[in-house]
Amino acid sequence: MTGRLSQVRVPTAGIAAGDHRLFDFERHGEELTGIAYKDPTEGWKVYVNRCPHVNYSLDFGDGELLSDDGKFFMCMSHGAFFLPESGECFMGPPRGQRLEALPFHVHEDALLVDILPEPAEWPNLPEL
Ligand code: FES
Repeated sequence: MTGRLSQVRVPTAGIAAGDHRLFDFERHGEELTGIAYKDPTEGWKVYVNRCPHVNYSLDFGDGELLSDDGKFFMCMSHGAFFLPESGECFMGPPRGQRLEALPFHVHEDALLVDILPEPAEWPNLPEL
């Protein structure tokens, strides 16, 4: 595994099960956001907020990326749907591709997220 570039602390207070928080980070000089999602059954999941279709963030800069029923991530640009528990797109242009997961660990009231170099396989990430 390639070494981490940096680490970001994401406070978890106030994030209910099924909800998320976006956080900012920088990688290779690029300003990006991440998604810290609290899955109701599987616990925390962390992804880069970047669609494998056209490299846009899923939201329009307003943090809104859940489908109307709150069950899925939705890319607001072209309507792709992703499974929050795996990051896999199951409907829309990047179907079969997935969001880039970021490693993390829980420390007290926060997630410590490791920022790794962009995977060579992006946007065709292998199944986890
Ligand atoms: S940019 Fe996400 S579906 Fe097109």
